[in-house]
Amino acid sequence: MSVAIYPGSFDPITNGHLDIITRLSKIYDEVIVAVLNNSAKSPLFTTDERIELIEKCVKGLDNVHTETFDGLLVDFARLKNVTTIVKGLRAISDFEYEFQMALLNKKLSPDIETLFMISSENHMYISSSIVKEIAKFGGALTGLVPDEIVNDLKLKIEKRG
Ligand code: COA
Repeated sequence: MSVAIYPGSFDPITNGHLDIITRLSKIYDEVIVAVLNNSAKSPLFTTDERIELIEKCVKGLDNVHTETFDGLLVDFARLKNVTTIVKGLRAISDFEYEFQMALLNKKLSPDIETLFMISSENHMYISSSIVKEIAKFGGALTGLVPDEIVNDLKLKIEKRG
């Protein structure tokens, strides 16, 4: 059975992420969306909230499920016995960072491969930070995040003041 891990902070999931997840679900028998922490970022949503938001959006995709892990991505992959990690690439600017992470992960665990999937053209400009910025100033979120989570994002931003 072919299994892929799609990791990220997903703070929150965007249409760009969902596009990659949907495409992956057609290629792999099982897709594990791994909500991990990037220690350089302080997330708006808690891990449980991020998982809940993803689950709302992937309801129709039976071979996709969401998990979390507090530690290194390669340790999570080993724990799950999965050797394929997939990352999305939006622009050449993503490449340097992703290249570094892929090489580091390879050094930490040589049997695990990182594959890259190019973002769809219409999602190239989306990022979780941009989406949060737009929400903060009351801009329209349609087309940027899945409809299922627009209100959750607005409420969270309101609560945060
Ligand atoms: N479409 C739209 N946006 C996308 C996207 C896509 N297809 N793919 C990524 N993005 C955006 C994300 O929303 C995110 O935006 P933000 O920076 O505004 O939040 C940005 O691109 C970076 O995404 P990603 O590459 O997934 O990084 P991340 O910070 O969300 O996640 C982890 C990185 C969590 C996978 C990484 O830190 C990790 O593996 N952590 C575990 C600890 C570890 O192993 N560290 C050592 C790694 S060598």
